[in-house]
Amino acid sequence: MFEFIANRTPVNTSASPGTVLLDFLRDELQLKGTKEGCREGDCGACTVLVGRLTDEGMAYHTAASCLLPIGALHGRHIVTIEGLTENDLSAIQQAIVDEGATQCGFCTPGIVVALAGFLLNSTSLSVDDGYAAVEGNICRCTGYASIRRAIVHLVDVIPTFSSDLSNRVTHLVDAKLLPAYFTDIAAKLKALPPATSDSTPSVGATRVAGGTDLFVQRAESLLETPLHFLDTPDLRGIRREANRLVIGGGTTVEELLHAEVLLETFPGWKRSLRLVSSTLIRNRATPAGNIVNASPIGDLTIMLLALDAELTIHGPDGVRQVALSAFYHGYKSFDLADEEWITTIAAPIPPDGARYNFEKVSRREHLDIASVNSAMQLVLDEDRIADARLSAGGVGPVPLFLRESSDYLRGKPLTDETVSGLLKVVDAEIAPISDVRGSEVYKRRLLRRLVIAHFTELCPDLELVEGAL
Ligand SMILES: Cc1cc2nc3c(=O)[nH]c(=O)nc-3n(C[C@H](O)[C@H](O)[C@H](O)COP(=O)(O)OP(=O)(O)OC[C@H]3O[C@@H](n4cnc5c(N)ncnc54)[C@H](O)[C@@H]3O)c2cc1C
Ligand code: FES
Ligand code: FES
Repeated sequence: MFEFIANRTPVNTSASPGTVLLDFLRDELQLKGTKEGCREGDCGACTVLVGRLTDEGMAYHTAASCLLPIGALHGRHIVTIEGLTENDLSAIQQAIVDEGATQCGFCTPGIVVALAGFLLNSTSLSVDDGYAAVEGNICRCTGYASIRRAIVHLVDVIPTFSSDLSNRVTHLVDAKLLPAYFTDIAAKLKALPPATSDSTPSVGATRVAGGTDLFVQRAESLLETPLHFLDTPDLRGIRREANRLVIGGGTTVEELLHAEVLLETFPGWKRSLRLVSSTLIRNRATPAGNIVNASPIGDLTIMLLALDAELTIHGPDGVRQVALSAFYHGYKSFDLADEEWITTIAAPIPPDGARYNFEKVSRREHLDIASVNSAMQLVLDEDRIADARLSAGGVGPVPLFLRESSDYLRGKPLTDETVSGLLKVVDAEIAPISDVRGSEVYKRRLLRRLVIAHFTELCPDLELVEGAL
């Protein structure tokens, strides 16, 4: 039995915890404004807001309800398109009407909810943040120019708010951008019995973090399976600990994208993280889920391999540490027993002179899995390479830490001869196969380009002459 609030209404249900919210909203609560498009997190038609109580008040994020099991929602406030208005059109809806940004209307509820997520979460309320909020929403008929105009229009009509998000809900209610009932939600959630904060999985239960891989791969069978939800406070957060950065395994990718400590440590961090899925998916997806899903092209895994990440794994026999570069044994085979789970992922704070870059090639910029991706960390000592770590995805059965390539670079001068030699070592170290994402030859060429891109990005003074490489 678990309880949450859907818009204005308390919900108490004993439905299977694996029931996805989209079905529960439409079939049980008869809230048909949330649309079913792809059921794979790809279209955004099913976007809802999920609110949770934090020490600073309510925090809301968008989520794809087609991938969101209701068992993860105890003590949460769910907001659908029906919960975003009182009587009149909201400012978001009015901007869409005024700019002709809807035609058949199928995508529109998802876009309106995504833009409510923008109003609740953007510190700057900039047009760019508005665009980012809808990057996971596909429209088949209107065309995106009018949707972009509606966002510009919306940004134009809303008042200026403090960048401090802790009072944002109150400000939005005062400005009539959210219905008044939002101000009572925190007190109502506090009155619910507390959610369990125990992150120890019960024996035989499938661990669910964001669910953005699991509910694409086997939503049907998860209806019948015992589930253990890992989005608990003790598994979240990003902190500096002595000379390491420590990331909770259940931290969301969107939280990583905005984490001050990561933004300060790695210039270009935001650009890299924005290449991962969309705001809608990043709001739920976690790095531990990315690692355990074991896709050879998992973006977070590739980034973390170049950062020399180490996993802390808990289980019935205690706690152990495993280097991420030693975690994978073969395709979808890795060093984690059924009854174990990842609690943290730690990486050394890079030394002075370190530079880091991530590159990804996919058919579309957002919402697409890479054909090939790669990350590189270089530590420079004047014009010598003191240390290097290079990783690559999509060019072998597992996400690869390219050990020989990294060793080759160590101690070498930073010259185009070194880069040229590296490209040969990289080519010998990978083993891509031809598949739907490209032929073997194509993937070899892609990785070659990505390695050159690392040097172009990290060492702009190094003038690489294409013919000489
Ligand atoms: C539309 C869409 C776009 C996507 N785009 C990208 C993309 O651009 N790049 C990319 O890399 N991925 C992408 N993904 C895949 C997915 O979002 C990521 O792999 C994500 O990081 C998975 O995390 P999760 O928390 O949702 O995992 P879940 O689905 O919850 O779990 C995945 C696996 O990890 C296990 N698990 C989760 N947490 C733990 C833990 N702490 N300890 C032990 N086991 C654990 C689960 O049991 C399960 O086996 C996309 C997915 C969708 C639906
Ligand atoms: S139905 Fe397409 S994202 Fe959920
Ligand atoms: S208005 Fe028809 S899909 Fe967007």
